[in-house]
Amino acid sequence: MSTGKTNTSSAPFGSTVLVVGATSSLAQAICHVLAREGCGLIVSGRDEKEVDLLGRDLVTRYNVPCMVMVSDFVDEYFTAESFIQRAGDFDHIIIATGTMGSSEPLSLPDIAFTSHINYTLPAQIATLAAIKLAEKKQGSVVIISSVAGDRGRQSNYAYGSAKAALTAFASGLRNYFYKKGVHVMTVKPGFIDTPMTWGMESPLIASREYVAQKIVKAMHKKKDVVYVPFFWKYIMLIIMHIPERIFKRLKL
Ligand SMILES: NC(=O)c1ccc[n+]([C@@H]2O[C@H](COP(=O)([O-])OP(=O)(O)OC[C@H]3O[C@@H](n4cnc5c(N)ncnc54)[C@H](OP(=O)(O)O)[C@@H]3O)[C@@H](O)[C@H]2O)c1
Repeated sequence: MSTGKTNTSSAPFGSTVLVVGATSSLAQAICHVLAREGCGLIVSGRDEKEVDLLGRDLVTRYNVPCMVMVSDFVDEYFTAESFIQRAGDFDHIIIATGTMGSSEPLSLPDIAFTSHINYTLPAQIATLAAIKLAEKKQGSVVIISSVAGDRGRQSNYAYGSAKAALTAFASGLRNYFYKKGVHVMTVKPGFIDTPMTWGMESPLIASREYVAQKIVKAMHKKKDVVYVPFFWKYIMLIIMHIPERIFKRLKL
């Protein structure tokens, strides 16, 4: 479904936001926060029905312009170039695509797949989006990484290492595009109540609505790196300082 992209709103952002992986639980919550603020949206997801439903919901609830894009990263014809071209004009991009991949034992294809979905394609899309935004000398690229990228753990090291690469990539991208007027923000969520954490019991799990609001607030403030909830910054600081000889014995 496409409602076109004419923005008639008086949004604080006054702009159009392209959300990649928009049907993810977290990204849906972000779309609602943005649409409530009056932003126009381009929502991209791999499930046609789901993404169409999301688009209709946003238009109905908030009366904002919304374009729907169906795109699957594993489609043999998918390329970052054609994706950015199809999206047309936008002012900000949020890249939320990610997958935990399989748990152990990891196979070689698992490692390649996890890296492709969590790192390679997000990095390619972020790059092309930043180049496009640099032509207007404004806009932002928001990359959803993870605290899992701060230190490799036995429970998710394929995912964690891909996120580590994405975090480092985002840092360099921010550094490079700062002079070109494009802001790059790295988001490092901790545990959020989404399908990724289903079955996990922890008092540290945050609601997706809370995390979404924090992310949009950080976009407004043009933060560089943001941990959500904030306390993960301190948790990760401790985790990163555990000596390796002790860390390797832990069941994390
Ligand atoms: N949940 C957490 O605790 C947590 C913690 C730290 C970071 N994060 C990050 O937050 C982001 C959002 O995740 P989430 O928690 O909301 O989980 P989610 O609902 O599983 O979202 C993952 C997203 O990636 C998309 N995706 C997966 N494989 C794809 C493919 N082959 N082609 C295109 N899209 C694909 C999914 O599409 P479908 O909607 O079609 O499945 C979905 O939109 C991810 O980058 C994740 O790594 C999550």
